[in-house]
Amino acid sequence: MTEAKPQQARQATPKRTITLEVSRYRPGQDEEPVFESFEVPLMDDWAVLDGLNYIKDQLDGTLSFRWSCRMGICGSCGMNVNGRPRLTCGTFFTEFAEPGAGPIRIEPLKGFPVIRDLVVEIDDFLDKLRHVQPWLIREGEELPLTSEYAQTPAQLEAYKQYSMCINCMLCYSACPVYVLDPDFIGPAAIALAQRYELDSRDMGDRFDLLNLDEAVWGCTFVGECTRACPKHVDPAEAIQRYKVTAAMRSILPWSRSRR
Ligand code: SF4
Ligand code: FES
Repeated sequence: MTEAKPQQARQATPKRTITLEVSRYRPGQDEEPVFESFEVPLMDDWAVLDGLNYIKDQLDGTLSFRWSCRMGICGSCGMNVNGRPRLTCGTFFTEFAEPGAGPIRIEPLKGFPVIRDLVVEIDDFLDKLRHVQPWLIREGEELPLTSEYAQTPAQLEAYKQYSMCINCMLCYSACPVYVLDPDFIGPAAIALAQRYELDSRDMGDRFDLLNLDEAVWGCTFVGECTRACPKHVDPAEAIQRYKVTAAMRSILPWSRSRR
């Protein structure tokens, strides 16, 4: 007769939670931002954004934050997570779930005025993007255009990296120059200008917009923008390339004409 196996002691699975310390600012109620702590389930496949949505759905429906795609495409969910600008949909709890790890602190992106809770004002950023003329400039052509402008793979490759920007503003939040000087045109806008300057179809010249102290010469090349960028745009490189272009033009003024 087979002996019965001893019953294994059954242990209740401990309910795992993690604390989110969320910055709250409710105009008319808070004089200044305050932190509020929430316990949320610690799920291995949850990102910080899932934790915020849990708070909004289950604990406090008044919590305000932006998000849309949940897949690193729309650029709207950027916040400071434990002091670093991150996309909250791409920052997973597993990164913080070490035994003894402290709470996760979530704040609005540094360097921008706070409208409410984790929502920041983005008008200045949009103005700066607009300022660099982010469109194809053509000369001597009337609309509607009747021809197409074919490009070789190499011509596409020349600017493709700078076209990957999702306007998440993480690079501005990471940039020590922008945080101190709001007139600095900033990393993403300069990378965007490069995107068009390097496009074989573009006939514009954005040199006078960028060859300024508040543009490329304001950059101290700390490189935090490139480290913060979730799409590997490398805005620091875009800025340094433009400095080289400016230096070349001062030595060889006739190189001012791009093509
Ligand atoms: S350059 Fe990178 S960090 Fe800056 S806005 Fe674009 S995607 Fe975001
Ligand atoms: S929700 Fe769209 S990038 Fe995070």
